[in-house]
Amino acid sequence: MDVQGKLAIITGSGMGLGKAFAIKLLEAGAMVCISDVDEATGEKTTLEFAEKFGNNRVHFIKCNVLEKDDIVNLYEGCEKHFGRSVDIFCNNAGINHVKGWRLCMDIDIMAVMECAEYVIDKMDKRKGGKGGLIVNTASIAGIVVGWNRESACYFVAKHGVVVLTRTLGTSKLLKETGVKVQCICPSFADTNILADIGTQAFSAVEKKFGLMTPEYVAEGFMKLVTKCNTGDAICIVKDVPPFIYNDMSKEFVMFLGIGAKLFKAAFGVELFTPQHQMAFFLMVFILANVLLHFLTSFLF
Ligand SMILES: NC(=O)c1ccc[n+]([C@@H]2O[C@H](COP(=O)([O-])OP(=O)(O)OC[C@H]3O[C@@H](n4cnc5c(N)ncnc54)[C@H](O)[C@@H]3O)[C@@H](O)[C@H]2O)c1
Repeated sequence: MDVQGKLAIITGSGMGLGKAFAIKLLEAGAMVCISDVDEATGEKTTLEFAEKFGNNRVHFIKCNVLEKDDIVNLYEGCEKHFGRSVDIFCNNAGINHVKGWRLCMDIDIMAVMECAEYVIDKMDKRKGGKGGLIVNTASIAGIVVGWNRESACYFVAKHGVVVLTRTLGTSKLLKETGVKVQCICPSFADTNILADIGTQAFSAVEKKFGLMTPEYVAEGFMKLVTKCNTGDAICIVKDVPPFIYNDMSKEFVMFLGIGAKLFKAAFGVELFTPQHQMAFFLMVFILANVLLHFLTSFLF
């Protein structure tokens, strides 16, 4: 999508990644509605942007994503203020596990789902909308598994965001509604969300994974918005070019199903365990090499 002249809403954009996404969109000529539960921070950021990009290109509306009325007020208030329809909605507000697993899941997945449901209906071409784009801020935690009990909720929520994106981001749904759905999966970035995980955990993260700047993540965000397809999940990792993490689960399940059938027929295996699967991969690999060797010697 060419963002020049487009109107975007970003939840949780008073600071951190949301603020960095807003800067990139504004630099590319979009108008942005800043939104946050933290009114003071949101207003300060909006003032800063108004001075740099012009008063007519930014606006602030307070929104707690846990409140449906706030979400409706944000969307409708933004359209009213700018006098046009919203083109891009970024589901970005998020917290970590420190305030408890239920709140983490309420904000990081339930509210994302609530916003996505509401925004798709508003943008749906069949319902009088003009189509548009929803970008969900997921995480690498939405792809890999977690490493301790405390943060399990964050990983579960972010996996939910990735699956939600892929399920809503089909070409069929895009054709029907005109709405694209994508997500960004950053590794660790230097924002406030890491501030309360404790100095020991913070140092461990910094040492093991390194920290990206919000600007670095925002460059990946722009690649997603301007160059990628519906359903895409883009991974942003320190010192690695952005890459799309494609979902191959259906193909993999089918592949393993074939292996399970073959192993049952050939060796009477009743349960196709990871050890059997490794043996199956090895057999497929050897067979593929033999075939390739045969074909190349036959052709040349
Ligand atoms: N920083 C990272 O390492 C990292 C990595 C991957 C994904 N993320 C995700 O990026 C997103 C942004 O986080 P960040 O790193 O910028 O952290 P941050 O703490 O700097 O920003 C989060 C923003 O969300 C706002 N917020 C919190 N609860 C809210 C609510 N109920 N309603 C509206 N706004 C609310 C906060 O006030 C804050 O401005 C989150 O979804 C987070 O999970 C962050």
